[in-house]
Amino acid sequence: ELPGVDPSKLEITKTSTPKELTPNDQLIFGKTFTDHMLSIEWTASDGWLTPRIIPYQNLSLDPATCVFHYAFECFEGMKAYKDKDGKIRLFRPDKNMERLNKSSSRIALPTIDGEGLTKLIAEFTKLESRFIPKEKGYSLYLRPTMIGTQRTIGVGPPGSALLFVIASPVGPYYPTGFKAVSLEATDYAVRAWPGGVGDKKLGANYAPCIVPQQEAASRGFQQNLWLFGEEEYVTEVGTMNLFMAIKNKETGQKELLTAPLDGTILEGVTRDSVLSLARERLIPEGWAVSERKVRMSELAEASAEGRLLEVFGSGTAAIVSPVRKISYKGQLVDCGLKEHEEAGDVALRMKNWIEGIQYGEEQHEWSYLV
Ligand code: COI
Repeated sequence: ELPGVDPSKLEITKTSTPKELTPNDQLIFGKTFTDHMLSIEWTASDGWLTPRIIPYQNLSLDPATCVFHYAFECFEGMKAYKDKDGKIRLFRPDKNMERLNKSSSRIALPTIDGEGLTKLIAEFTKLESRFIPKEKGYSLYLRPTMIGTQRTIGVGPPGSALLFVIASPVGPYYPTGFKAVSLEATDYAVRAWPGGVGDKKLGANYAPCIVPQQEAASRGFQQNLWLFGEEEYVTEVGTMNLFMAIKNKETGQKELLTAPLDGTILEGVTRDSVLSLARERLIPEGWAVSERKVRMSELAEASAEGRLLEVFGSGTAAIVSPVRKISYKGQLVDCGLKEHEEAGDVALRMKNWIEGIQYGEEQHEWSYLV
């Protein structure tokens, strides 16, 4: 049983200075935040203390606090949506809770009862309801974060921790519709490795992603593609999971592919959703759906032979992010989009299916009614 947090003990202190809402068309991902934050402290001796919703505010931490020195930090990304009846919905919060506990326990931070925390997050979204835009494509991005707060530079398990949740109203990732991105395959760095922590959502996994992204950008590519090992397995794109649709060389069967969860791949909630929908809705159309390792050379060969149908990233922020081309060893691998196209068929359908569930247009067990 996971260490409990009692949602019925929630204490709410409302802000005396409510913020003005940012107009929808001016929302920039992660720049504006709501009036309040959810905050729960933990100590090794007493466990999770009283959950509180308090005005959004700075943290005050001693410079010796362990999070600043040894990166005791993990986080989640999830969203709250408003449906056409004005009801608030979360998308698969159980998956985020499960992953949060996997992440926190790997860095000696406490675990927490996921159902209790989901209820608290639901209460928080109710209080911040006015910040959730009612328009399709818009949502409230939620950022549960856990940090070690013990004041020590001694290396050891934190004796205290803080879990907080902040919220940021966000618009569609591509306000003007899909824009296919171009990638540069990174050959001088790896994101994750067997036995490492690449499958956990640790802040420490993200900071090292920026320089390769900047390097790619300096050569005109929006994102980098992470390869692994001598085999140059295709793993992830920037901070997203990656999907590829390839036509089989012998049989001509279409196959939707993504890297398997071997410990080096982030266990994306959108990744899992895409796989599940593909198994349910694409297999009956004759597709194969596989979690298997794909070499960059296999991708390049499929492209050269006109068998690479499409490539897209998947994540909570963008849902899907179509890829136009990949720079790899001085060649440009074409990812199957026609010149005038910004997204492939599978990416488009996945986006529609997932959004339909998120906004409650399709009744589905993944949608958690607040
Ligand atoms: C996602 O949702 O795609 C991400 O991982 C991005 C997030 C770190 C801002």
